[in-house]
Amino acid sequence: MILYYSSTGNSYHVAQEIQKKYPGELIDMAKTKTEEPFVLAEGEPLFIVTFNCFWGVSEFVEDFFRRHQFVNVKRILAIITCGAYLGSGDAHLNRMLRVNGLPEAEVYDLPMVTNYVILHELSPFEEQQKCFNEADRRLKLILDGCISPYRSAFRTKLFGKLVHFLYFIFRHTKPFTVNDSCFACGKCVRDCPIKAIELVNNRPVWRKKTCDHCLKCLHQCPVAAINYGHFTLKKKRYHYPGNSY
Ligand SMILES: Cc1cc2nc3c(=O)[nH]c(=O)nc-3n(C[C@H](O)[C@H](O)[C@H](O)COP(=O)(O)O)c2cc1C
Ligand code: SF4
Ligand code: SF4
Repeated sequence: MILYYSSTGNSYHVAQEIQKKYPGELIDMAKTKTEEPFVLAEGEPLFIVTFNCFWGVSEFVEDFFRRHQFVNVKRILAIITCGAYLGSGDAHLNRMLRVNGLPEAEVYDLPMVTNYVILHELSPFEEQQKCFNEADRRLKLILDGCISPYRSAFRTKLFGKLVHFLYFIFRHTKPFTVNDSCFACGKCVRDCPIKAIELVNNRPVWRKKTCDHCLKCLHQCPVAAINYGHFTLKKKRYHYPGNSY
């Protein structure tokens, strides 16, 4: 079973690649409606694929594991895609699994293109291509068992708590704006994993004070009408090129 959570397609691509090697159910955490427990077959590993979020995992992922039951989970392999550096992402994920009574995961970091355009520039196209090739190569090594799991050092774990604290500052939805190119298609409303956006008089309005801050609405608006304060006004938008997630 492969559970994935993706905003701009990197983690979705990884989940698809895993499925080629381990044919199993591919479940989008943001779309599944099931209230039933997830039951694994004897010997079946549970894969978790998500993106690094301020050296941890996002609130949506934590909440997903709080809300769902799992049966017969003996081995968890987690692949966390990131822009550059996982930091304490392994420790955060494993804390969350422990709280929910699940076994410790073997965590692997997978650097891909960063979509966090609030604080970073998007890398040039040629660099992105190199990055995708390197990520595919590394993923193959991970799945072939040729790479040891990522383990953050003690001081990284400590510092990670501080880094992840920034997430709680940036999660506020107040800075989101919509410019006049918006044509009220409603894609941002449909895409938002936590239903934070509504169309009011043909304009997206953020109904929740905080959100998961996944940036899916911002990156996937067909006319790039959504911005986050002044941070993203001149920034390009990103989506993994090989899929239509
Ligand atoms: C809210 C947020 C926080 C992020 N924090 C980090 C980070 O701390 N370190 C990092 O290397 N990448 C970080 N990133 C970049 C993503 O982890 C990376 O681009 C990821 O591959 C995106 O996956 P996706 O396309 O499946 O959404 C962050 C992205 C978002 C949206
Ligand atoms: S996705 Fe973009 S164009 Fe469509 S409603 Fe949202 S902001 Fe407007
Ligand atoms: S409002 Fe945008 S950034 Fe926030 S959770 Fe929804 S899609 Fe993600």
